[in-house]
Amino acid sequence: MKIYIPRDAAARALGSDEVAAAVQAEAAKRGLTVQIVRNGSRGMVWLEPLVEVETPNGRTAFGPMTAADVAQIFDGGPLALGPTDALPWMAQQTRLTFARVGLIDPLSLSDYEAHGGLSGLRRALGMDRPAIVAEVTDSGLRGRGGAGFPTGIKWKTVSEAKADQKYIVCNADEGDSGTFADRMLMEGDPFTLIEGMVIAGLATGATKGYVYIRSEYPDAIEVMSEAVILARKAGVLGAAVMGSAHAFDMEIRVGAGAYVCGEETSLLNSLEGKRGVVRAKPPLPALQGFLGRPTVVNNVISLATVPVIFERGAAFYKDFGLGRSRGTIPLQIAGNVKHGGLFECAFGLTLGQIVDAIGGGTMTGRPVKAVQVGGPLGAYFPRALFDTPFGYEEFGAKEGLIGHAGLVIFDDSADMLKQARFAMEFCAIESCGKCTPCRIGAVRGVETVDRIAKGDSAAIPLLTDLCNTMKSGSLCALGGFTPYPVMSALTHFPDDFAPMKEAAE
Ligand SMILES: Cc1cc2nc3c(=O)[nH]c(=O)nc-3n(C[C@H](O)[C@H](O)[C@H](O)COP(=O)(O)O)c2cc1C
Ligand code: SF4
Repeated sequence: MKIYIPRDAAARALGSDEVAAAVQAEAAKRGLTVQIVRNGSRGMVWLEPLVEVETPNGRTAFGPMTAADVAQIFDGGPLALGPTDALPWMAQQTRLTFARVGLIDPLSLSDYEAHGGLSGLRRALGMDRPAIVAEVTDSGLRGRGGAGFPTGIKWKTVSEAKADQKYIVCNADEGDSGTFADRMLMEGDPFTLIEGMVIAGLATGATKGYVYIRSEYPDAIEVMSEAVILARKAGVLGAAVMGSAHAFDMEIRVGAGAYVCGEETSLLNSLEGKRGVVRAKPPLPALQGFLGRPTVVNNVISLATVPVIFERGAAFYKDFGLGRSRGTIPLQIAGNVKHGGLFECAFGLTLGQIVDAIGGGTMTGRPVKAVQVGGPLGAYFPRALFDTPFGYEEFGAKEGLIGHAGLVIFDDSADMLKQARFAMEFCAIESCGKCTPCRIGAVRGVETVDRIAKGDSAAIPLLTDLCNTMKSGSLCALGGFTPYPVMSALTHFPDDFAPMKEAAE
């Protein structure tokens, strides 16, 4: 009997280790031999720990499982959910980047290969550098870290740069609130990220890579470190990648915990052992990045999407999506929501479909008031904008951004003035201090919101002015985008900023 019990950090936080031990004990009691595979999460976080049993007709799911309930896995019971793939959450997805997450044993290279792993790399090894870059460009892939910059163009710049050494740096700092796609991918299918980085190396001539993982992800750090060792042993990494004439090796590096270290130039400083301060651009990291050498800096999801593009072809990938947002996007649905988790689908679903149909509304059962999309620098969307399709340009047109595709849902008890204050406070705390509009502006922003809360209506135009200054004068998007949550709160929820609000209360 083969039983899958996630070793994903969210599942572990909800007791999957205890469940695994209880399943083992229950099986022994019944004289049954079971093989427990510690897989990644299937993304239905509200059902974790989700236990699956392999049957001749596919996997059957049980959840949310507790150690006290494990007998149900053998005898049936109310926690039996039926075939996993038939659950609406799973059936409605298009899983390309996350195709293997939750299906395979994350640290089994043979399982990885049996599910299509390494076929993209094999294809790339038969192509020359410009052809590899062109394949990525043609796929329409854009950076999933936040800025949405075309990945192929970045790779082309590094590929064409002349240097004795080039680097691939994977940004696994994943600081955005409500996001966990990078973590889930690294814990559930680490070889996909490794394969993507090797292909990036082939495309650009880089022979060395680094994955910069935030220290708050000990499970991801452990799984990635182990996967790198296994990939090296199998010849996927090393002096002769898969027996070819190409060399590529990589290391895992751990960040010390600063939101701004997710910004690519700050990350590079941190990686070099310096303070995590933003560097002025130009020079672009693609030309002078890590140790001053041409460097590709890409998000985990951008790089982990590359293997499927090479496996299935650029045209296949590009076929999904909407407008200039091509392919699929792993949505991370969080906050006050009934069904939270990771849902991968083509770009183009409306915000309302995501929140109401997929997320199932709020956990509290109260009306949804706002959704913050794109992390702490993303705008708050009111229900009136729920017809916005999920795409880079579509969200930009509504003064918002999709960022790393995190959605944090709030019910009608949320106070949007407090959320605006929080945005300024967050910026003040996390600011690297390099430029004045952010360093000073965020502090003044907190004070100004406090004045509004005390009923000073003259402070409202001041806040708008300040936001405009931060937007146009900041060196990076931390100071430059903090106005999005602030201004969206002010614009869409003016009642929460009504003068004399606190005095009246
Ligand atoms: C304050 C700040 C924080 C950021 N945090 C992250 C992060 O945690 N992960 C990430 O991939 N990109 C982050 N970015 C975006 C990176 O600067 C960069 O655009 C990205 O790593 C490029 O990879 P991509 O093109 O694959 O998205 C952040 C940007 C800013 C301004
Ligand atoms: S905007 Fe803020 S975080 Fe960015 S460079 Fe300026 S001070 Fe640093």
